[in-house]
Amino acid sequence: MGALQWWQTGVIYQIYPRSFQDTDGDGVGDLRGITARLDYLAGLGVDAIWISPFYPSPMKDFGYDVADYTGVDPLFGTMEDFDVLLASAHARGLRVILDFVPNHSSEEHPWFVESRSSLENARRDWYLWHEPQPAGDDSRPARERLPNNWMSHFGGPAWEWDERTQQFYLHSFLKEQPDLNWRNPQVRAAMYGAMCFWLEKGVDGFRMDVLWLLIKDKEFRNNPPNPEYHDGMRDFASTLPVYNANRPETHDIVAEMRELMDSYGATLPEHVEVKASEPTMQKLSARSHRVLIGEIYLPLTELVTYYGLPEKRETGEMTAPETPELNGANLPFNFHLILTEWKASAIAEIVRTYERLLPPGGWPNYVLGNHDQPRLASRVGAKQARAAGMLLLTLRGTPTMYYGDELGMVDVPITSDQVRDPAEKNEPGKGHGRDPERAPMLWVNAPNAGFTAPDATPWLPIEADWPAKNAAVQRSDSKSMLTLYRNLLALRRQHDTLHAGAIADVAAEGDLLRYRRVALREGESTDFQVLLNLGSEVATVRCVPGTVVLTTLLDGAGARVEDEVTLESGEGLLIALD
Ligand code: GLC
Repeated sequence: MGALQWWQTGVIYQIYPRSFQDTDGDGVGDLRGITARLDYLAGLGVDAIWISPFYPSPMKDFGYDVADYTGVDPLFGTMEDFDVLLASAHARGLRVILDFVPNHSSEEHPWFVESRSSLENARRDWYLWHEPQPAGDDSRPARERLPNNWMSHFGGPAWEWDERTQQFYLHSFLKEQPDLNWRNPQVRAAMYGAMCFWLEKGVDGFRMDVLWLLIKDKEFRNNPPNPEYHDGMRDFASTLPVYNANRPETHDIVAEMRELMDSYGATLPEHVEVKASEPTMQKLSARSHRVLIGEIYLPLTELVTYYGLPEKRETGEMTAPETPELNGANLPFNFHLILTEWKASAIAEIVRTYERLLPPGGWPNYVLGNHDQPRLASRVGAKQARAAGMLLLTLRGTPTMYYGDELGMVDVPITSDQVRDPAEKNEPGKGHGRDPERAPMLWVNAPNAGFTAPDATPWLPIEADWPAKNAAVQRSDSKSMLTLYRNLLALRRQHDTLHAGAIADVAAEGDLLRYRRVALREGESTDFQVLLNLGSEVATVRCVPGTVVLTTLLDGAGARVEDEVTLESGEGLLIALD
């Protein structure tokens, strides 16, 4: 294997910009706030930040409804603020990954405004317009004769009637988020142009929103009903997304995106309009290797297909079989640790299956939390959250952390008048609201936990436990969750075996999860044993002789272990093997 890239050896930290740090007292975080906290992130020991969208947006889905792909919303600051953020991050050795939202724009994007203006408009075909079902014997008005049974992820049908042009348009999410037509080459060129805009500035990669949804069935066939659907489930679950998700042609787009990102700084594909200036090109090629990350919620067998296929070299030869360059996403996000039951056997099974399914040349990755999922510490509890941290940061593959997980932040209770998330507003009480995990970061022991001005009203409530949980308090506590994360991140960086080595002997024994991390070349680096007690009882388990490097309880480092060791509930041990 050649030298590993930064996105393979490093750790990614997701920032939800509304909730990270506010500097102008409006109760919503901003870009200057992120810049102000870069020292914290560098000190924490992460390698890259992924920032959720900050583009101009009506904020119907809090920025995932983009009205301009190459701008900054005034709520978050200015383009100059972004430039300062990027330069300041790079100056600290931190990479910056942007969130790109290719599947849909805002209804306020000029493209959609044009597209909906008339049937003849040049951009009509940029979105997915469809005639109503033919009337036949159906006496319902056209606006009720939906093209098919596809559902929106945010409740109700995925079709919206447009009175002026008497057609429907598709929206996989809110009706204010019309889906773009990725079969249209002009759409692709425009989107790739927007990507170039940011690549040229020097961003280090993209996290592509809902990458597996980009292409829809050409014939718009009906989805089959979900036989397991029952009352109380969200509307989207009523059918199986066979024809509007994970379509085979999606891989062609992913490969194009990858080609664009890989070739950037060298030559750009012809269909891309925006070109970088000569000096920028040179600067960028020195720092190439942008990362393409895909948000993909699919079973492992399908997920791994998003790594793509072995690249054909210009000579037409395949690369050497043991180190193929794949042409898909560098990191198709693996959410399975979030989605599975918190049980040693289930997790061992996921890790083993994933390792087995990875294509040659495919680099693993794991995610434990994000802005769409309940908080880790709420899902598994405070004790187990420590074991989870050790798991994430000692597995083989790139870890992605969610802001505040390093403090053990939990879901914040949201009263009905505090609901902001459209997913909750549209389908109340079904348990899919995402406000609880988006509460502000806890910085210091001061009103509003230092997230915003003391007299400001934060856009979501501050977690009640802020006096004990904020970063400043935890920083000076040698046993805190933050101290555990700092230790884990430092060890992962320090030891080749942890950031680059192999994984072996992944097994569950009752509630114990165990695996070994093995140096790539024998004798060159330390081997480690990881033991995690994911159960509620104390467990005594067998082990191999070695020295404890870290415990999740932050006691006992340096102790010798021989053939048996006892772990508290939720305790994890990292043992350097003799
Ligand atoms: C992704 C985002 C989510 C957003 C949705 C629609 O799943 O992570 O927050 O609501 O896409 O853009």
